[in-house]
Amino acid sequence: MQANTSFEARRGQIEHYFDRAAMKQWEQLTSDAPVSGIRATVREGRDRMRALLLDWLGADLHGLRVLDAGCGTGAFAMAAAKQGADVVAIDISPALVDVALRRCAAHLDTFDSGGRIDFRVGDMTSAGLGEFDVVVAMDSLIHYTPEDTLQVLQAWAGRVRRQMLFTFAPSNPLLVTMHAVGRLFPRGDRAPMIEPVAERDLRRKLASDGSLSGWQAQRSQRVARGFYTSQALELVRA
Ligand SMILES: C[S@@+](CC[C@H](N)C(=O)[O-])C[C@H]1O[C@@H](n2cnc3c(N)ncnc32)[C@H](O)[C@@H]1O
Repeated sequence: MQANTSFEARRGQIEHYFDRAAMKQWEQLTSDAPVSGIRATVREGRDRMRALLLDWLGADLHGLRVLDAGCGTGAFAMAAAKQGADVVAIDISPALVDVALRRCAAHLDTFDSGGRIDFRVGDMTSAGLGEFDVVVAMDSLIHYTPEDTLQVLQAWAGRVRRQMLFTFAPSNPLLVTMHAVGRLFPRGDRAPMIEPVAERDLRRKLASDGSLSGWQAQRSQRVARGFYTSQALELVRA
């Protein structure tokens, strides 16, 4: 991806938040440990979103090369590998990738499917990651502006053969709920701002973006569970 100061500044805040400020909360939210009512709804929504994205990849993932972009603690990567996918899972937070590696080691026996995961620490747009059939960015772009999100998609577009699946924060009434989630954390540890996106504007921008002319926006689905609201969008090769 071309040098872009707004993207890099936001990525720095995101890294600080997930790697340090809220690392323990993310580790707990994404574990099996019991959580309270509000966090339970977020966990339930995220489980539903992960299942939806997995379903959009199709029934047989054997041999499918997948980029789990912004993998966090690795839940999507592990679910895809269990179904046979060959996954590169990358996150900017070394601490979350450590958690993912530990969890993955504990579940290695479940990859009889032949699936694999190569965990990396770094930027999800890095060209060095190579080519993929599919890229999945579950809630990894929600803190970036729509303009930066488009640049990220452009960076992937030439290196992805089949599908790009990502989620965004729908402009209504998401902001309220996600900010409420942010308020669960101590003041200094609040999440970087969530960027609300209107689907119609996003589709218009995607359709008129010359660098994405080989791609078409297709399925879209919102998942709303209590304090979690996020919307998945599928881009496929035209
Ligand atoms: C809301 S979390 C979601 C994590 C994971 N996809 C999941 O659903 O459990 C967003 C993740 O995206 C990562 N992230 C954001 N920007 C990134 C970038 N430019 N490169 C790599 N990871 C990034 C963050 O560090 C964080 O772990």
